[in-house]
Amino acid sequence: MAHRVKKAVVPAAGLGTRFLPATKALPKEMLPVVDTPAIQYVVEEAVNAGLNDLLMITGRNKNALENHFDRNYELERTLEAKHDEARLLKVTHSTDLADIHYVRQGDPKGLGHAVLKAAHHVGDESFALLLGDDIIDPKENLLERMLDVHGSTGASVVALMEVDEELLSQYGVAVIEKTDDSDVVRVTGMVEKPAPGQAPSNLAIIGRYVLRPEIFGVLDRTEPGRGGEIQLTDALAVLAADVSIADGVVGVIFRGRRFDTGDRLEYLKAVVELATERDDLGPGLLAWLREFVASR
Ligand code: G1P
Repeated sequence: MAHRVKKAVVPAAGLGTRFLPATKALPKEMLPVVDTPAIQYVVEEAVNAGLNDLLMITGRNKNALENHFDRNYELERTLEAKHDEARLLKVTHSTDLADIHYVRQGDPKGLGHAVLKAAHHVGDESFALLLGDDIIDPKENLLERMLDVHGSTGASVVALMEVDEELLSQYGVAVIEKTDDSDVVRVTGMVEKPAPGQAPSNLAIIGRYVLRPEIFGVLDRTEPGRGGEIQLTDALAVLAADVSIADGVVGVIFRGRRFDTGDRLEYLKAVVELATERDDLGPGLLAWLREFVASR
């Protein structure tokens, strides 16, 4: 089914305090997962789903992000002179990936507030929203599936994943009804970071959304919620509860691999897991890992 989504929005204004001191001067989005900044996986995912117009919501201290997706003539000339085509390609690849725009969030008033900063660029079109902390296995096609479901239902779409009970309070959690599709549910309500034991299901919202532009008007009227911040989940709950606003909200249940690079332990796991799958690093790393673990 054809969909008209062309634009992706990537919030990247967070302070990354969980990774201090590394993130004192370096944006958390630039932390390498193996040898590639976390943000590049997210941009590649959007581009692979056909979204070449990308808006990043940034903030102070985020200049490295713009530099990463810009030309670096000095490096290019040096590598050209050495005829090092392989490394040259690594430098130019991120520059040529997408048409990337930037806007600053200004006040750090939460994810909902960051998304609202995209209103002008997005205009009156549906758009994808990708949160930079989550890396989806590059072999999966979650975003394409969400775009298809958006095209066929017209609804806003959230990615949902089954999460262990004790972790649910770290997420937005959905109230759902089943549909005939095993990976699609209708979302009738949502709670941002429910207190332990209070979650309405075990389906957590992971950082991928396809949103109708009506979300902006709702966000504009959304009062600060959990943590005193304007929560995207609260605005989506309004769309979910009243299908007359913008055809409601549906969830696509994701059963593949997702790495939460915003958490230090999960970040380390992502680096190791993705490195073991690489032809250049995998065999050596796996052999060492086996020896290392056996010696502990
Ligand atoms: C945000 C959202 C939350 C969602 C999560 C996914 O929370 O507010 O609903 O479940 O991303 O990663 P954050 O992780 O920014 O606190």
